[in-house]
This record gives sequence, C-alpha cells and structure tokens, in this order.
Amino acid sequence: MSDTCKALRGQLLYFVDDPAQAGEAAWRYHADGILWLEQGHVRLADDADKVLPQLPADLEVEHYAHHLLIPGFVDTHIHYPQTEMVAAYGTQLLEWLETYTFPVESKFADETYGREIAARFIDELLRNGTTTALVFGTVHPQSVDAFFEEAKQRRLRMIAGKVMMDRNAPDYLCDTPEQGYRDSKALIERWHGVDRLQYAVTPRFAPTSSNAQLDYAGQLLREHPGVYLHTHLAENTSECTWVAELFPESSHYLDVYDRAGLLSRRSVFAHGIHLCDDACDRLSESGSAIAHCPTSNLFLGSGLFPLDRLSEKGVKVGIGTDIGGGTSFSILQTLADAYKIQQLRGHKLDPFRALYLATLGGARALDLEQRIGSFLPGREADLIALDLHATPFLKFRTAHCKTLFETLFVLNTLGDDRVIDTTWVLGEVAHRRDA
Ligand code: GUN
Ligand code: ZN
Repeated sequence: MSDTCKALRGQLLYFVDDPAQAGEAAWRYHADGILWLEQGHVRLADDADKVLPQLPADLEVEHYAHHLLIPGFVDTHIHYPQTEMVAAYGTQLLEWLETYTFPVESKFADETYGREIAARFIDELLRNGTTTALVFGTVHPQSVDAFFEEAKQRRLRMIAGKVMMDRNAPDYLCDTPEQGYRDSKALIERWHGVDRLQYAVTPRFAPTSSNAQLDYAGQLLREHPGVYLHTHLAENTSECTWVAELFPESSHYLDVYDRAGLLSRRSVFAHGIHLCDDACDRLSESGSAIAHCPTSNLFLGSGLFPLDRLSEKGVKVGIGTDIGGGTSFSILQTLADAYKIQQLRGHKLDPFRALYLATLGGARALDLEQRIGSFLPGREADLIALDLHATPFLKFRTAHCKTLFETLFVLNTLGDDRVIDTTWVLGEVAHRRDA
C-alpha cells in the first residue's frame, strides 16, 4: 500500500468554511501535523501524534520543518495568452485592450505559439503555488486546444474556454454568433470532463458580443449542463457607460448577461467593482461568483472592490490575478494588494479570510468545493509547502511573530514565488523551488 502513499509532516492549515461567517471554526490548524496522502488524494490530515501510529510501518515521513502546508491556490480569473504583455505602460482598460491586448492575442492563431506560451504559463502557475485556474484563451479554438493539452499532460484541474467576440474588436479577432457557437460546442465535446479539465463558455465582455452571441452563449449552457460561464463585469467606469449605451434595454450591466441566461452557480464574473444593489442581489440569488483581481484593479486604475458589500450580500468571491491586466502570478502578492485596497476603503482583510479566499473560497467560487481547496478526506492532493525561511528577511520577520495570525499576515504581505518551496499535483511533486 505504501507505494501509493505519502506522509508529509509540518504545520498544516486549511479551511472548512468562510471565517467571515464561521469565525475560528472556519479553519483547522495543526502545529505539528501529518498529511497522509493515498493515490493522489487526502486520506487524513491531523496532529502527528494521532496519525503516526496509523501509518504503514514502511512509509517514510517527509519533514517540512519550517514550512506551512496548505491546499494549492485557486486563481479564479487569468488570461494565459496575456503572459507576454504583463506590465504594459500607461493606459486604462479600453485603451489597454486596443493598444496591447488585441495585437498580442492575434498571435494565437498559430497553435505552435499557443503551446509554447501554455507551457511557460503553467510553469509559472506552479512556481507560484497555483494548482487550479479559470483561464481565458483567445478567439482561436486552437488556443484552447494548446492550453488543455499542456494541462492534461501535467494532470492539472483546469477550466478554460475560447473567447467569443463578434463586434467592437479588430476583424482579425472576431468570430460570428454562429461560428462562436459551433467552435465552442466542438471544444466542449472535445474537452469538458476529460481527466480534470472542464470548459467555460467565454464571451469576452458585453461590449464585444452582440445580443445574438450572448443568446448563443446561453444556449450552450443549456445544452451542456455543468459547463461554466466566464466573463468580465463592471471593471471600469468608461466600460460601464459604454455598456449602458450599447444595451439600453437592460436595467444594469449584469442584467445584460442575466437576460441571456448566463447566471448560475457555475458563472464567474471578473471584477464586479461598480455594481448596483440589484446586481449584487442577482449575483447572490443565482449563486454566481465574482473573481476579485486586486493587482489588476490597481494597475489599470479600475477602482476599489467593495468586498465587504458583496460578502454581506452573500456573493461568492474568489481571488484572481487577471494576468496580464494583473501584474503578478503570485496569489500571495495578489492578497497583499487585496489588503491595501480594503485599507483604502476603510476595511480590514484579515489573513485567515485572505487565505480562505485564495483556497476554499476559490474552490467554492468554481463550484469545486467537493474536490479541491481543503485537506478533508477524499480531496484531490493539490497542495503547496510555504517556506517561512524563504529569504533572510522573512526568516527574521517570522521569528518575531507571536501568533499564527501574525505569521499568516506577514506571509500574505511579504510572500511571493520565493516562498513556494514545493507544489504537489495529485500527490506528486510538480515544482520544487530548489531543484
Ligand atoms: N475586459 C475585456 N477584456 C478584458 C481583458 O482582457 N482584461 C481585463 N482585465 N478586462 C477585460
Ligand atoms: Zn480579465
């Protein structure tokens, strides 16, 4: 049996609920814990003195002496084709799309190029401790083939889709309502449910889709229960004004998507900064999620996300890097910016809630709570070891922490890719920092 087993010893932390609702009952922490894995899944996570007597006698225990073992990060919104354009100077959303994004995305007509970037992108996710992501492709179906082929080879749990975009974009990046429908359908049939891969119907955002295309997106969701809906929502004030002009019949931005039947517990809307109360209520009632992308919101000058308001309404929220509007693949860096955004709004984001959002909260936003995001028995063993001694300064600073709260806050604020010592996918090492 021990061939398929692993035992990792260190500090263990995972969430079983949202700290904003459940308080201290939301997390499980074992200062000296063992994570017992079997056939790529969690068998048991508990105090070492409880697990040790149960382990097979021949099973070697791997020690992570100054590390924190947590579930892999979940990135609920990211664009793999924008990997090469992170940190593009001087513009806000609509001009940024025209100036930088569309020209770069045109390169993905070439599937070989797509494969090259997909491999680099996934390397970068794993180096940063992200094991599941909800991913935009480009309008080209082959961009999604390239991504899924790479993710399949690495045995990752990933969700992705081809962009649907039939207007207000350069001709070389536009499909038509019918072509977008047919290409998306073929990709769903090819990829949805293959190994750990799932498909997301991906209209870019309301301004670049006609009503006819949004209706086709709704038709795809009805014809293929279980596929996701992934798009952008209310990120930038000029964008919101434009949507109101383009869709005068809709009562607010989210209503454009609602009328097309795009709201469900498998719908994820990136940003959602500028929303009215009715929109928040519809997100909540429909079980839809918001992907909060703090580094992107700061970089593109989009606005300050009202986390408290959405949480009070019961809207599910996950964390997204939004590469390449976002500036870091690191979910820890992203949490550091999330904290600062809430500071500017006069609110606090405590480190337990932050780490919840990046793990179980992300899994819930993606309707994957039964599979990933915690160390409950039976969960898929995607996890990371965070090294509290990753840099001389981090070692010094964490030595001065008196509580777990403080240590986690220091990690959230100072941590980046250097902290990710090891990333495991289905119980196998997928990245070692020092290899
Ligand atoms: N809205 C429409 N397309 C995009 C995109 O590529 N990035 C971001 N951040 N917002 C968008
Ligand atoms: Zn985005």
